[in-house]
This record gives sequence, C-alpha cells and structure tokens, in this order.
Amino acid sequence: MSNNSTDLKKIISHCKEYGYVFPSSEIYDGLSACYDYGPFGVELKNNIKDYWWRSMVRLRLDVVGLDSSIFMHPDIWKASGHVDAFNDPLIDNKDSKKRYRADQIVENYIDKIVAKVDKEIKKAEKRFGDNFNKNQFIKTSDRVQQNLKKINETKELLNKYLADEDFRSLKKLIEDIGVVCPVSGTSNWTDIRKFNLMFSTKIGSVADQASQLYLRPETAQGIFVNFLSVQKTARMKIPFGIAQIGKSFRNEIIARQFIFRMREFEQMEMQFFVKPGQEMSWFDYWKAERKKWHNTIGFNDDVLKFHDHENLAHYANAATDIEFKFPFGFKELEGIHSRTDFDLRSHERHTNKKLQYFDSEINDHYTPYVVETSIGLDRMFLAVLCNSYKEEPIKDGIRTVLNLPPILAPFKIAILPLVKKDNLPDKSKEIYNKLKSNFSCYYEEKDSIGKRYRRQDALGTPFCVTIDHETLDNDTVTLRYRDSMDQVRISIDELIITINNKLTI
Ligand code: GAP
Repeated sequence: MSNNSTDLKKIISHCKEYGYVFPSSEIYDGLSACYDYGPFGVELKNNIKDYWWRSMVRLRLDVVGLDSSIFMHPDIWKASGHVDAFNDPLIDNKDSKKRYRADQIVENYIDKIVAKVDKEIKKAEKRFGDNFNKNQFIKTSDRVQQNLKKINETKELLNKYLADEDFRSLKKLIEDIGVVCPVSGTSNWTDIRKFNLMFSTKIGSVADQASQLYLRPETAQGIFVNFLSVQKTARMKIPFGIAQIGKSFRNEIIARQFIFRMREFEQMEMQFFVKPGQEMSWFDYWKAERKKWHNTIGFNDDVLKFHDHENLAHYANAATDIEFKFPFGFKELEGIHSRTDFDLRSHERHTNKKLQYFDSEINDHYTPYVVETSIGLDRMFLAVLCNSYKEEPIKDGIRTVLNLPPILAPFKIAILPLVKKDNLPDKSKEIYNKLKSNFSCYYEEKDSIGKRYRRQDALGTPFCVTIDHETLDNDTVTLRYRDSMDQVRISIDELIITINNKLTI
C-alpha cells in the first residue's frame, strides 16, 4: 500500500504510462480536474461498475436499476436544495491570487496536527518497544494532549461556523490558527464568499426563450423523481431500493489529488425506501453491507474506517462516510446517509403530486424514508489502484506489479507467443480465439518474454499463457501467475477450467 504523496505521483505516472488514465485534452495543455480513461482504465472502470451492479442489483431481489437523464427539469434542483445550498465557501490570497476552499484549508491544518500526533506516538512506540501502552501514553503526554485539544477545538469551531454560514468568524479562525498561502507564504486573505457548484447551460435554440438547465451534481434526484414509476412498474414492495450509475458534474474550486476530486465524475448510488421509523436499522444494515463489499474487494480493515457525521445536513438524521486510506490520508470514499423523507416531500411540494406508497399490510399511504449509499466510481478506481500498486524486490531488481483482484483486472489473460516466428503467433491466435469468449484476453508478441511478463505485471494481468515450440508438439502451454510468478505447464484443454477456478476475488 502506498502511503505518501510521492506514491500518488507514482500512481499518476503509472496510470499514464500504462494506458489507465490520461489528463483530458492533453495536447491542448489539459483541462483541470478532467481525465480520460485509456484502454486499460476503461476496462477496470467497467469491471468496478459491473461488480457494484452485480452485488447491489443482480444478486438482490429488493433492488432494481434505473438510468435517468443527466438533464432534468430545473425545478428539481430547487426542490432538492442544490440551487440555494450547494455551495462551497471560497477564500482568495490577495498576494498570490490563488483561490482555496476555506473549510479545506482548516481541514488541512487539522490533518497536519493529526500527523504530528501520529508521529509522536510512533516515536514513543519505538522507544518503549514491547512495554508501550498506547492509551496511557496518549493520556499522559502533554504534547499529545495539547495537540488533541487543538484538533477538537478547531473541528468544533469549523463545524459551527459552516453550519451557521458564519463566514466572518471562519475567516478569523483561519487567521487565528495562522494558515498561510502555500504559494505566497502570507495570510493576506479576502473575505469568504459562497460559490454554487452546479454547472448550468441553456436548452433550446433561441437564446431568449432558452431556459436554464443544470448538469446534475448527483444521480440521486433522478431516482427520487422516478420513485413511483419504478415502484409500480417493477411491482416493488417496501423496503426496496433503486440503483443507478451515471455521470455527475460539480464545478469544484480546488481540484487536486488526481481523480479523487473531479469536475466530471461518475457516481454509483442506491436509494433504499423504507417505512418511516425503520430507517435507523436499515442505515446500520447498509453500513455493514457496504463495508463487507469493500472487504471482499481486498480492502482490509487497516485501510478503511467509518467517519460518523456529527453535524448533519438539515435533511438527514444519520450519516457516515466510509473512508479509505489514500496516499494523502484517510478520505471519504463512500457516503451512507439516512435522508428521511426530505427529498420525496420536497418534490411533492414543488409539483403538487403525491409521491406516496400504498402499504397493503396496513392499508394506508405514507411517504417512505430513504437510506442512501453513494460512492464515486472514479474515487473507487483510485482506491483500487492505491491498494494494488506494489514495488517488489526480485532477484534482478524491482518489479512493479498491480495486485488487482482478478475479477477487476482489465485483462484476465495475456496470450504470449515465445517468439514471433515458427508458427507460434498462429498457434497463439488460435488459443486466443478459444479463450476470448470466456475471458478478456490480451495478445502481445513484441519484446522478449521477460519484458512482456514485467509489462503484464505492471498492467495487473493475473495470468499469462506462453506458447512455445513444445505447444506445437503436444498442445501444452506455460501458465504464469502474476502474484507468485510461479509457472506451470498445462494442456490447452485445461486452461479454461483452471483459470475459471482461480478467478475469484
Ligand atoms: N447523493 C449523495 C451525494 O452525492 P456526496 O457525498 O456529495 O453525496 C457521494 O457524494 C460520493 O461521490 C462521494 O463519497 C465521492 O466518492 C463521490 N464524489 C463526490 N464529489 C466528487 C468529485 N468531485 N470527484 C470525484 N468523486 C466525487
């Protein structure tokens, strides 16, 4: 697991070199916070989507799918609260003219103190060895206690000022804790202003008659406004969920950390409709379910944690983030929110149409409550890469390997003729044709076999099949495993069953 910003740089350059992710519009010098997925990236992304869809929709009787449009009636975004409240607090440094999110610069300050505390604990652990009692050390170290106090006080003030939209006090907090602009090194800050994150555009060909549209900032509202149509046509009974995967757009002010925060990204969201009063047990259920999902994909507990929200949005009665340990620290990967009946009721108010469910068991109508799970596909992609990227010492140097879970790997098998002559390419293509309807296969004949193995390791291909002169005599091939680098000789007829058996998560 990579653990610092150097490692993020390595992952970014690995993505570019191996056709996973390219900066968007690169030959025009790029477009910030927009990225393109290359031949290997698009396969990995599709595999993550399929894996999510399979576990959230296909393997469940109580969740169905939807694909709603990106453009929706503009009033939807008034009802959802996005027109009035989907804002970030902005602050500029007058000397460097650089713009920042005021909440993020305070959070970065807090992260730095957290890192200091961690360092202090690690140092003590080293010093005391087996006798180290972490809890006692934390309680008795003055320096750690002072820093923890600073962290708690700053967090409390930040949350309060954000909730009250008290930007004057937030600016004062930034000044008091001594945050300086990393570019100019000064604390010459402007006042904080609100900035709406939605992109807008116009519909219609005549400018005057055109009406304003928004590019959706979340896919969830498409689910809410289709709630009754889906429930009736799919004959769903509460509790049930509607899932959707699609693009969302946010005019993020600070777009950093590669594909972690983008302006155009994809979300995989599911709204689970429940009887009012039962939402908390479903919230706990989805917390556990989603954590299990991350565990099965190879994220161990040491790279995952829940961050329960203390300050809830006005429509939520519980919320938590599943955080992943990215190279730049634990950050939100997925949100699980108990959104009450806020969205459905608000759409009812704005349309004068009932969005209620008739519960035949109690012979009555009600507006369901909603528990939402929402994960960014691109962020999940980055987490999968961070969790898989390894540099391993081997006898002739270092090999870079992506230990991707086989089910997510862009290509499961690389088909490699040992040399580009003696009929080996023809025989290899015959094998490729035999395997291609069962597995995504990659054919490659350029370079030495050693170099091709290294390249496939770096691409994350779990199995290589090498065709040599013996293959022509007895229809056997070499099967090489990415993780162990072990090689076995097996007959072509056994390939499908052998690889299928190994194609677990
Ligand atoms: N419907 C709820 C919702 O959209 P959110 O916490 O704003 O909640 C959910 O977003 C998830 O979408 C996040 O946990 C993150 O994975 C992803 N996400 C949000 N903004 C993003 C961005 N600018 N770039 C990439 N992913 C983003």
